[in-house]
Amino acid sequence: MLGEEKILFSGMQSTGNLTLGNYLGALKNWVALAEEYTTFYCVVDEHSITVRQDPAELRRRARSLLTLYIAAGLDPDKNCIFYQSHVSGHAELAWILNCFTYMGELQRMTQFKDKSAKHADNINAGLFTYPVLMAADILLYQADVVPVGKDQQQHLELTRDIAQRFNSIYGDVFTVPEGYYGKSGARIMSLQDPEKKMSKSDENPNASIYLMDDPDTIMRKFKRAVTDCEARVAYRDEQPGVKNLIDIFCACTDRTPDDIVKEFEGKGYGDFKAAVGEAVVDVLRPLQDEYHRLEKEKDYIDGVIKRNAEKAGGYAIKTLRKVQKKVGFPEKVR
Ligand code: TRP
Repeated sequence: MLGEEKILFSGMQSTGNLTLGNYLGALKNWVALAEEYTTFYCVVDEHSITVRQDPAELRRRARSLLTLYIAAGLDPDKNCIFYQSHVSGHAELAWILNCFTYMGELQRMTQFKDKSAKHADNINAGLFTYPVLMAADILLYQADVVPVGKDQQQHLELTRDIAQRFNSIYGDVFTVPEGYYGKSGARIMSLQDPEKKMSKSDENPNASIYLMDDPDTIMRKFKRAVTDCEARVAYRDEQPGVKNLIDIFCACTDRTPDDIVKEFEGKGYGDFKAAVGEAVVDVLRPLQDEYHRLEKEKDYIDGVIKRNAEKAGGYAIKTLRKVQKKVGFPEKVR
């Protein structure tokens, strides 16, 4: 029942093409979690402009990501799927929370350090306060649970610290959220460097499977995937390439590593890689079909965007008004 269910919030940036890692590690879990929680799945377009973007491209990708959420199986009548920039409360709460976050805390964020090294010509204040906007996203909806990757754990800890700090001054205003980090097997690594996470910003296109890759491309990328010279399908840390392929296989088929190792005993990597490729093609085909179908349903998607922005806005405004009152902003005269 609505109101009794716990609240879940998560978001993804619409920059770059989503990879199999984003699907198996995040989106697929989101669909599973949708049953249990009242969910908010956001396209965090405001976070994206901390790095310079082409406006038309950003807009196109935001819509594409939102469509993909639905294609992946999130029913937009049950899950609130929306654009961050359509609910002004995110930016408004972020401002207030900025005043409850210390420079030192933000300076310790490893993602800020990495990103400022990568974009040395544009170390803007938004990049610095990025985690505060993320805290605002989460706290605005009084989220209990936030599924994120391990790389976001530090940001989530900061969110909890900010919430607790605010609550200790003003009373119980925010729900202090828990992170949900999923299963370790869902961490998909690069096909070219299995020590690195599969990333949508990888410069080598063979390193990642993109969700819209066609079957031939997928098969070719698996064929070229880096393995080792052990020439045996085993699930162990000493063979990170093969281990990653087994993880992908398992995540696509809901089978166990043991089961897969048994099936490929005495067989070469060629057969094994082809089987992994086929499993991935089978998982992505319905997703791609549904995506291409939805892409053409312009009015339907527009309706989803409008309805869900209103719904999210309704939740957001409640928290925002409460916070504004607590910090001492004058009430509006009606
Ligand atoms: N920073 C997250 C990422 O890059 C995206 C994000 C923004 C997010 N706001 C969020 C994730 C709120 C969870 C909850 O992955």
